[in-house]
Amino acid sequence: MTLAHGVTMLPTFMPVATQAAIKGLTAQQMESLGVSLILNNTYHLNLRPGLDVLNAAGGAHRFQGWNRNLLTDSGGFQLVSLSKFTTITEEGALFASPFTGEPTMLTPEESINIQHAIGADIIMQLDDVVSSLTVGPRVEEAMHRSIRWLDRCIDFHQKSGKSDSQNLFAIVQGGLDPKLRDQCLEEMISRKDRVAGYAIGGLSGGEEKDVFWRIIKQCAERLPEDRPRYSMGIGFAEDLMVCVALGVDMADCVFPTRTARFGVALTHKGPLNLKLSKHAKDLRPIDEDCPCPTCTSKMSRAMLNHVVTHETAAAHALTLHNVVFQAQVMGRAREAIIAGTFPDYLKSFFRDYFGEAG
Ligand code: GUN
Ligand code: ZN
Repeated sequence: MTLAHGVTMLPTFMPVATQAAIKGLTAQQMESLGVSLILNNTYHLNLRPGLDVLNAAGGAHRFQGWNRNLLTDSGGFQLVSLSKFTTITEEGALFASPFTGEPTMLTPEESINIQHAIGADIIMQLDDVVSSLTVGPRVEEAMHRSIRWLDRCIDFHQKSGKSDSQNLFAIVQGGLDPKLRDQCLEEMISRKDRVAGYAIGGLSGGEEKDVFWRIIKQCAERLPEDRPRYSMGIGFAEDLMVCVALGVDMADCVFPTRTARFGVALTHKGPLNLKLSKHAKDLRPIDEDCPCPTCTSKMSRAMLNHVVTHETAAAHALTLHNVVFQAQVMGRAREAIIAGTFPDYLKSFFRDYFGEAG
């Protein structure tokens, strides 16, 4: 996938830099790990530093010292997941500013306007997001509203003159109902000439895995071959593998970086909780074969166990490792797809991952 800030090979996992920073890492470190696409949140950047600072900086790339590709989520999901006081109307999402308490309206146009100021290479439509556990007419309403909001985002984006450098993605909604998903797919695919890619939203909210997989399969199968497909909020390695097998190209989640701060290293043999005392005398690195700075410098599991609860050094070290792990999971999948050996890789991945942890 070629964007304004370079090539990103697919499938890819996007680390989440909510506040224009991957917690614990500098932009330069991310770049040196080989990461070429990260995610920022419109909601957070609009609140702080705000549009004036972003515009003065000439966009979020320069603001954060990041020279590679950037994707921004539109804000709707964060509004619903972070604020109990968000009211959705046809006009947009009405919420109380967490800093001033002032009522603030995020419309589809305003979301795109902010994402233009941020200057992300991929921008997301504002969608009406309901929890994947919601049932009843609200799910259908949110799906139809997401289509109407997509049209408003497309209009605003096309008139802005930014549609050459910034790529607008649609977000398929419809909850766990295959009929609603089909209607949404139909409508959104019919706008293909004005949409650069497609996301599958409204999942990963606590639904059963087999329901989640069926929705991913249904959407990935129908979405156009020549557009990237992005499953939102997916980050467990086993879910990434299934999503890629079903045709997904991109995914993001705070999980790998968040779990690092809680002392968990992800490995090809499953997660390793370094808080456990069984690691206290273990002088091996997390993973002998891992190319990350933490493992190649031979930082021991014992040291990580020793500092994990009271030194930020452990969070840095584990974040570096987990970012590289996610990139490896996707990178190996990509190589296997190219080599025509993906089914074998899938099997060996699951055999290793759910075997006994090292
Ligand atoms: N992040 C995770 N799920 C979603 C979703 O459905 N919509 C948006 N905008 N962001 C998400
Ligand atoms: Zn490592």
